[in-house]
Amino acid sequence: MTSHSDSLLLGSIAIVGATGAVGRETLSILESRDVAATRITALASPRSAGTTLPYAGASLRVQSLDAFDFRGIDVAIFCATSAVARTHAPRAVDAGALVVDNSSAFRSDARIPLIVPEVNADSITPADRLIANPNCSTIILLVAIEPLRRRFGIRDIVVSTYQAVSGAGAAALEELRSQAADVLASKAPTPRVFKEPCAFNVFSHNSSVDPESGVNVEERKMIDETRKIWGDSRVRITPTCVRVPVFRTHSESVTLSLATPANLDEIRHAFTNARGIRIVDDRAANKFPTSIEASGGDDVLVGRLRPDPAATLDPSGRTTRWCLFIAGDQLRKGAAQNAVQIAELARIRFGVRIPDASRNATLAV
Ligand SMILES: NC(=O)c1ccc[n+]([C@@H]2O[C@H](COP(=O)([O-])OP(=O)(O)OC[C@H]3O[C@@H](n4cnc5c(N)ncnc54)[C@H](OP(=O)(O)O)[C@@H]3O)[C@@H](O)[C@H]2O)c1
Repeated sequence: MTSHSDSLLLGSIAIVGATGAVGRETLSILESRDVAATRITALASPRSAGTTLPYAGASLRVQSLDAFDFRGIDVAIFCATSAVARTHAPRAVDAGALVVDNSSAFRSDARIPLIVPEVNADSITPADRLIANPNCSTIILLVAIEPLRRRFGIRDIVVSTYQAVSGAGAAALEELRSQAADVLASKAPTPRVFKEPCAFNVFSHNSSVDPESGVNVEERKMIDETRKIWGDSRVRITPTCVRVPVFRTHSESVTLSLATPANLDEIRHAFTNARGIRIVDDRAANKFPTSIEASGGDDVLVGRLRPDPAATLDPSGRTTRWCLFIAGDQLRKGAAQNAVQIAELARIRFGVRIPDASRNATLAV
């Protein structure tokens, strides 16, 4: 867990989109760390200006982003739309803030690092003032399979997602609540955020579908962002992205081809002490990752580790084809937690002075 010094490391923090699903989760993560000495500024649209958000036993007054002056802000975590990020992130950078953006506005820009700290922390340089947080399904997938990539290499991935409604924001969370109540009261659900009813329903991801390829935007993000984060344009990725009626946590069924064959012991061994991962893989008890168990946590749960039953094993049980099932809270590790980790990493790279009088140390990596 994070120490007092870690939170002081972030200095004066602005949360842009503090009233939304990711913004509130970011506040909750900062609150769970000891940030009494750190200034937190909550920003949102003019609609929310003047409202309050609970924080550390007190309340934060929400300010309008439009008129906000970022001078004096050390770290700005953007948790709003791509349009908001494109308009306001550059002026936050110009005012001297380090910006971490949760939207997709800058992810495909070759000049902007796209970071999953467990995977490509080394891609952050001291010159970076704006860093993009990847797509939530991509973060959860890449954290889970990083130990296999490091040990054996990965050539291709087939992944099917089971994505929570809160991936579409606070309004979608409310939509599942109200539709579930309606359905249980024998009333017809009224879809607003999603075109399809979301209560008691499973449907193809709500992002738009490319008419030529048939690939939807969420699937395209998983392909393009994985290639950028890994720096590997040859890796083959076949995603199918689907919404399921759970409030939070994305689960994913993954089948992949390793570059070199492995047996079950070697696969399990690769996960020993892996960062950001908890193995939940008890065949005898039929106990594997669930969305409820992953919700509210920072680890990606990994289980159902098994060779692809369609693959031929060599005499030592080795194959390149492996299957797993994973679950990660997309509001935390898929967004807020990853963004806070990035901010901490970047601030360390910039050589921030830690306000510890006894050491007066400068951290540098
Ligand atoms: N939800 C997830 O699981 C997830 C995961 C990874 C990445 N993301 C990305 O994170 C971002 C936030 O997502 P979310 O799910 O938290 O959405 P959300 O619940 O809909 O929240 C959106 C936030 O943006 C603010 N906002 C909207 N227009 C604004 C404007 N013109 N000026 C200032 N603030 C404005 C809203 O403020 P008001 O309340 O005042 O309208 C609200 O605080 C999105 O880019 C999303 O793609 C989300």
